[in-house]
Amino acid sequence: MRKKITIIGAGNVGATAAHWAAAKNLGDVVLLDVAEGIPQGKALDLLQCGPVEGFNYRVTGSNDYKDTANSDVVIIAAGLARKPGMSRDDLLAINVSIVKACAQEAVKHSPDCVLIVVTNPIDAMVHTAFKVTGHPKQKVIGMAGVLDSARYRTFLADAIGVAPRDVNALVMGIHGDNMLPLVRLANVAGVPVTDLLSAEKIAQIVDRTQKGGIEIVNHLKTGSAFYTPGLAAVEMAEAVLTDSQRVLPCAAYLEGEFGISGYFLGVPVVIGAKGVERILEFELTSEEKAAMALSVTAVQKQMEATGI
Ligand code: LAC
Repeated sequence: MRKKITIIGAGNVGATAAHWAAAKNLGDVVLLDVAEGIPQGKALDLLQCGPVEGFNYRVTGSNDYKDTANSDVVIIAAGLARKPGMSRDDLLAINVSIVKACAQEAVKHSPDCVLIVVTNPIDAMVHTAFKVTGHPKQKVIGMAGVLDSARYRTFLADAIGVAPRDVNALVMGIHGDNMLPLVRLANVAGVPVTDLLSAEKIAQIVDRTQKGGIEIVNHLKTGSAFYTPGLAAVEMAEAVLTDSQRVLPCAAYLEGEFGISGYFLGVPVVIGAKGVERILEFELTSEEKAAMALSVTAVQKQMEATGI
């Protein structure tokens, strides 16, 4: 059966996600935006890559949620992005109403979809989508861990001088300054990075990972990163569409896991056709627990600000 992926928001992140989804031949792609013409133009352009790149599925642009009906996965990438000097929290007031409307419409037309939320501040926006739709918790997931871990792995690979794909490393917690790049579990094909790099170098890499988003905003000046955020969302979508049981760090709704309840935060998640199939819980050190507690405080503050 043909799969269907809707991407809401035809800005940089949404259009890039559509690009990756089409290139990976995952299914029919619908790119939706409120701006007339933008999703249609970008989708048509992307569709015309088909003969060259060899993908077979339809890519459609639309302003009408009817065209999104019965999607297997809906990625919400609508909303404002940061400019220099802004934190992700500065986007909250405007993005909360955008995400609310998008999530409600998406679920109305695709009641069985897995919702993947990319809009910032992600941990609060995914929680907003969960609350306003009443969608099952397994089917509402926030993107961020894949992106933050990809940054962490890139910087580690660079410093060690190895292929990035051989670096396994996990970032947990909030998609913000308090995120937790785990050091003791980071390894290169099983070899601990703590045996390959000095503590000082690792500390620099952890800091750069935590500030990975703003580093790119400061270069671009007009917006934030989009290649890796778009790819990260599609990596999650692919795991759902292929029921792969891949383990990806994602923002999932926690009910006691890692001692946290009632919030979405980044944790290792087994992703399959149902969405969050399982959360892989493990014992954190007291230092890591303290770092996760900072994430909880930060997301609590964000959720209070949403008024949801
Ligand atoms: C970043 C934005 C997408 O981290 O939050 O680049």
